[in-house]
Amino acid sequence: MSSLASKQGPRYRHTAGEEEPYETIGVEKLTPIIGAEISGVDLGKLVSDDARSNRQMDEIHRALAENLVIFFRDQHITPQQHLAFGRKFGELHIHPAAPHEGDDPALMKIYADKDSPRANGEGWHTDVSCDVEPPMGSILYIRQCPPRGGDTLFASMYAAYDSLSDRMKTYLDGLTALHDGESTYRGLYADAGVADKHAENPLFQCRFRWSENAIAFWDNRCAQHRAMWDYWPHTRAGTRVTVKGERPV
Ligand code: SIN
Repeated sequence: MSSLASKQGPRYRHTAGEEEPYETIGVEKLTPIIGAEISGVDLGKLVSDDARSNRQMDEIHRALAENLVIFFRDQHITPQQHLAFGRKFGELHIHPAAPHEGDDPALMKIYADKDSPRANGEGWHTDVSCDVEPPMGSILYIRQCPPRGGDTLFASMYAAYDSLSDRMKTYLDGLTALHDGESTYRGLYADAGVADKHAENPLFQCRFRWSENAIAFWDNRCAQHRAMWDYWPHTRAGTRVTVKGERPV
């Protein structure tokens, strides 16, 4: 892991701009760099389209852009409301391989128990980064939590990039990365290798401790995430809705 310490104070100085207050939601930052918990929203009601919902939608969008991942607790939503919330942000992505729950293939199943051979998302990654057009964001609803553990970690790729030395930025400028020999990426989408080691610095991260019926919504273009499978033999279960993105430039 790279050290960002120097004799002149921290080499990475995160400075957020002056923040406008929010009017229709509460926004409590988890760290100055990434993650915020949102309060004052009932997502089940929000997907019905009244005027207040539109104002809240705008502010949720803004909170996502400012914090890269946002969290909602105590949400009691149906699969249809989960899908409808995702559709507010764009067309839904269908995972090419993962199982889904119920009839709609856009409702991806997230599940691990004592008999599971693996759990979703155990290494640092962005979702479906092998797609030519990787998703813009993912909305994960966890209904059943283990008694302890099962946290998800998120890391800001803006912070990881900004903290590089000018020399390293110049070196990286224009380089591309090959994804499993198939698709070419560049910029913030680089998903593995040296970039990963640097991105693992906890300075760029937040860690979300789930409670039942909580939701995490992350911007898949600029945040990586990693799910902890430290709760075996307990069960963790939920669903994920993923919003389509664009081809990276
Ligand atoms: C995922 O990578 O979407 C799974 C994240 C999680 O289960 O916390």
